[in-house]
Amino acid sequence: MIKVGIIGCGTIGQELALACQRRFSDEVTLLALDDQEPSHAKKLQQKLRPKPQIFPVDELIGRCDLIIESASKQAAYEIAKKALSIGKDVMVMSVGGILGKEKELFDLARTHRCCLYLPSGGVVGIDGLKAARVGKIYRVTLTTRKPPHGFDDAPYVLKHKINLKNLKEEKVLFEGNAAAAVKGFPKNINVSATLSVAGLGAQRTKVRIIACPHMLVNVHELYVQGDFGSFYTRSENFPAEQNPKTSRLAIFSAVATLERILKNVKIGT
Ligand SMILES: NC(=O)c1ccc[n+]([C@@H]2O[C@H](COP(=O)([O-])OP(=O)(O)OC[C@H]3O[C@@H](n4cnc5c(N)ncnc54)[C@H](O)[C@@H]3O)[C@@H](O)[C@H]2O)c1
Repeated sequence: MIKVGIIGCGTIGQELALACQRRFSDEVTLLALDDQEPSHAKKLQQKLRPKPQIFPVDELIGRCDLIIESASKQAAYEIAKKALSIGKDVMVMSVGGILGKEKELFDLARTHRCCLYLPSGGVVGIDGLKAARVGKIYRVTLTTRKPPHGFDDAPYVLKHKINLKNLKEEKVLFEGNAAAAVKGFPKNINVSATLSVAGLGAQRTKVRIIACPHMLVNVHELYVQGDFGSFYTRSENFPAEQNPKTSRLAIFSAVATLERILKNVKIGT
């Protein structure tokens, strides 16, 4: 049995915890939880049988085989570094938090013979991007549209005093590279970080972020051009009920990544 520990007991952490106990109970034991808000960890603990224990981060990492980070951009890098440094596998959801430091983490994983997992999230086409990288990639562009309230606490929106209330038509909030997008929209645009790591890097991955009134879904459009040809994907994602910034497909993607880790048949690139 693989011993799993989850750091960050919010929308994604909760669904992964339930998946560990309901879907993967033959393969994993959900051993430990942690959250910077003790009440969040306790609330989740109450929903689970058997009850995992609540530990501080370092102890959780020491006791578990697979550590899942579903906390925040600020927490992701330290968690991944600590886990990989002692040979523990780690799944990172807040991928924006490791951007720019991913090579160091890749080296740690290689040196300590463990794995770093970065789920695709709500974007579709990472399989194609990984394959395209075998040849030359010329262009990766992500266009993300979400309802305005999904952006209301984004640092970029606050800094530029963008008024998102009473929008009548769609408004382009940001155009730039993934490095700047992740800084300005840390809770919205993890997919741009994952695309960067899989493809051209954060400086050359282009991002457009658009607030759309009357829209009920989070839409990611990905365009990739390379010496293989080109592809375009579009996903229309229902937001998670508990957190409109997180797409339901991102939660499913995390659960599917756990399944991929556990199963002996791995489908797709
Ligand atoms: N990779 C992707 O495609 C993708 C998609 C959606 C969300 N995310 C990211 O995954 C993370 C979790 O998303 P969510 O929707 O579950 O968020 P959420 O706000 O519902 O839950 C986050 C939980 O983590 C806790 N937390 C925050 N900082 C922490 C820290 N330093 N240590 C321990 N606990 C901490 C919070 O108290 C909260 O309980 C976020 O960073 C989010 O941006 C990634």
